[in-house]
Amino acid sequence: MQIVRSIPQMQAVKYPEAAQVGFVPTMGYLHEGHLSLVDAAAKNCDLVVVSIFVNPAQFGPSEDLDSYPQDFERDLALLQKRKVDYVFFPTAEEVYPPGYKTWVEVEDISRILCGISRPEHFKGVSTIVLKLLNIARPHFMYMGQKDFQQLTLLRRMALDLNLSVSIVGCPIVREADGLAKSSRNIYLKGDQREQARCLYKALTHSQELVRVGERSAGKIIAAAEKILSDNQAKVDYVKIVDSRDLSETQEVDECSRMLIAAWVGKPRLIDNISLKA
Ligand code: PAF
Repeated sequence: MQIVRSIPQMQAVKYPEAAQVGFVPTMGYLHEGHLSLVDAAAKNCDLVVVSIFVNPAQFGPSEDLDSYPQDFERDLALLQKRKVDYVFFPTAEEVYPPGYKTWVEVEDISRILCGISRPEHFKGVSTIVLKLLNIARPHFMYMGQKDFQQLTLLRRMALDLNLSVSIVGCPIVREADGLAKSSRNIYLKGDQREQARCLYKALTHSQELVRVGERSAGKIIAAAEKILSDNQAKVDYVKIVDSRDLSETQEVDECSRMLIAAWVGKPRLIDNISLKA
């Protein structure tokens, strides 16, 4: 496994002509969700590149950039046990040098759902991911479905900008009690860890309502919101959307997905589930 710390060095990596390169972009502090992406890339590709970069451009001014968990040595030890060929670990100064002026924005999708409480977030995400793709030049990019909006937005960007990368969305990895794995789960203190289960409870309850025949998005959302508020979670949004373009749905059908964002104490958690009956 080679650690690459500069952009020119990563750009200079010569992949064998026929090699299929799989790429996993991360912000580090790796958990089993990330490692499942690495494993999927390793299974399907000849070479695996993982980037570790806490991207300042996707944090708002009052967000957790300064306290975002980081442990490069631990991340390396975890990656060393997998089939990883390159770990790209650039500095913020090199990624956004003085005079940096270019941003990529996916209209509409970046402004709904998480984009309402995090207005600059997705501009930061699409810009860094396009830069990383240009630098790492993979054939496949592996992303988790936990941030379903991010996945949908990046698929749109790849389509709109004729990128030759294929984006592979991988299942959410959960703790035994259903809580979706997230680097930010370490912020959950005391009772909050237990309360945080309510996101998954609300999602699975919604799935159950659909299974027994309920189709009204309004009714399913109201029941999910009640589960969240009964568990002291502060709802940012609970929506049922069409999974292809994130447009809001009134009547649940086989393309519907429920997306939730809620604060459990200070941490803001997201999760989602397919409502396919
Ligand atoms: O999902 C993440 O960890 C980040 O948004 C990503 C895709 C690595 C871009 O910084």
